[in-house]
Amino acid sequence: MATIRLGDVAPDFTADSTEGTINFHDWLGESWGILFSHPADYTPVCTTELGTVAKYTEEFAKRNVKVVALSVDGVASHNGWIGDINETQNTTVNFPIIADEDRKVSELYDMIHPNADSKLTVRSVFVIGNDKKVKLIITYPASTGRNFDELLRVVDSLQLTAYHKVATPANWKHGEDVVVSPAIATEDIPSLFPKGHKVVKPYLRTTPQPNLD
Ligand code: BEZ
Repeated sequence: MATIRLGDVAPDFTADSTEGTINFHDWLGESWGILFSHPADYTPVCTTELGTVAKYTEEFAKRNVKVVALSVDGVASHNGWIGDINETQNTTVNFPIIADEDRKVSELYDMIHPNADSKLTVRSVFVIGNDKKVKLIITYPASTGRNFDELLRVVDSLQLTAYHKVATPANWKHGEDVVVSPAIATEDIPSLFPKGHKVVKPYLRTTPQPNLD
């Protein structure tokens, strides 16, 4: 297992899932992706997480993001559990869950942290750009359910950087001013960011969020 770092091409794999065999890169196609592991099926926190992801379908689609979950349980277990998720979270799981019984993908992505649990995956998150490169890695412990609003916020930030050459400041939320990339010379800002800008310091230049009407 090689360490995966930001900017690396996301390792490709072929795996069974609740939606059939997935070849990861082919499955991603031109989309952005979120690959996230959970410790085990039929567990309470995971049930709420997968239900939440299902409820955010439109939010992921708006951002051209495909989501795929993973645990070391098998397809039959995943399919049985999906019934419980749909019933208890009042939703319809409509994304694949990888069945990583042989731990091939978990090991490829370093999702098993033996000092936390020797057998089960932790709550890993990988955001992958439409260039197949890893843009974000976060690891949560089994006991903490993820904040999927934060993941949408990060995707918005990553896409602003990819498409508009801006970065986002601390605690930025959709609609707030953003930061012009340090790679852009101040004299080039007016033509690139016609909505206006502020030079707070030569290295700190802000502009309204460029992709809003
Ligand atoms: C859960 O999803 O609730 C969970 C799974 C493994 C350990 C602790 C909590």
